[in-house]
Amino acid sequence: MKSAFRAPSNIALVKYWGKYGVQLPSNPSISFTLDACATETTLELTETPGIRVALDGVDTPSFVPKVAQFVERAATRHPWLKDYGLNVQTHNSFPHSSGIASSASGMSALALCVVDLARQLGHEVADPKQEASILARLGSGSACRSVFGGLVVWGETHSIPGSSQEFGVEYPHPVHDVFRGYRDVVALVDVGQKAVSSTTGHQLMEQHPFRSQRFAQAHDHLASLGPILASGDLEAFMELVELEALTLHGLMMSSSPSYILMRPNTLRIIEAIRGFRRETGTPISFTLDAGANVHILFPEHAEQSALQFVEEQVKPWCKDGRAIADRVGQGPVSLLQ
Ligand code: PMV
Repeated sequence: MKSAFRAPSNIALVKYWGKYGVQLPSNPSISFTLDACATETTLELTETPGIRVALDGVDTPSFVPKVAQFVERAATRHPWLKDYGLNVQTHNSFPHSSGIASSASGMSALALCVVDLARQLGHEVADPKQEASILARLGSGSACRSVFGGLVVWGETHSIPGSSQEFGVEYPHPVHDVFRGYRDVVALVDVGQKAVSSTTGHQLMEQHPFRSQRFAQAHDHLASLGPILASGDLEAFMELVELEALTLHGLMMSSSPSYILMRPNTLRIIEAIRGFRRETGTPISFTLDAGANVHILFPEHAEQSALQFVEEQVKPWCKDGRAIADRVGQGPVSLLQ
């Protein structure tokens, strides 16, 4: 018996940074689900006990502990998982060497497979997407948002009815057309292993001197995004999203111990984006995840000038001149039907 899903990565606009319990967020977040950057995973139940993981068809024992931890946690809701051996075959659409984290797309794809198999085995699952989001969260917090397409909110907050600490929900309020198919070009600045992991970064928020202000700010930012998303106010959108990105890195720089994940070329690209926006009026902005790469965001109608800008003024600062073009997507798809 097997299941297979393709699940995309996501990029947060309001950032989740800090957690408690089993991957519960200290503050709410919202992300765009992407399209091209995705993981395709097949999960097969076998008679032979144990977990086997193959990446691009090659047996990869180094992935087993992460999958085993996921299965341990998922089995608290799906005890049947323990009755089988598991064969996982996985493939990322983006190169492993890109420094793009595959945990969101990978855990989301795996969680969707588990929920599908539960149903194939005859177990009742009241809300399969919600269940997959809960399981994905147990694997990697932000993965719970990749179960849905478009804009997804995770973390309970007053401005989003139905929002939950345990799973992501599709953004429920009106969204202006300018945000449909929004572009994200990922400028690859540093493709190596991060100096400080996200797990450590989340932990450092526990004692962070600015934690309560930050958590309150994230709620405020989600609430102020409402009218921005509804009206298509790109100026306000770009200002808020860049403030969120720099706040995330500001929190890292003001943690104890402090650390810096941006690289000199991260700042060069940020400067170039702001300069180009000032000079040409093109609605192009940036966000950052917990690393040195720069996500360059712009609406579809600005694509021509934005892509020319990326060629001329961004790629020279990228590792081997590399950037990955992506956009907001529709969410995961089953690969077997
Ligand atoms: O899901 P994790 O533990 O990899 O943390 C992701 C944190 C950020 O990417 C920095 C922000 C976010 O909301 O995705």
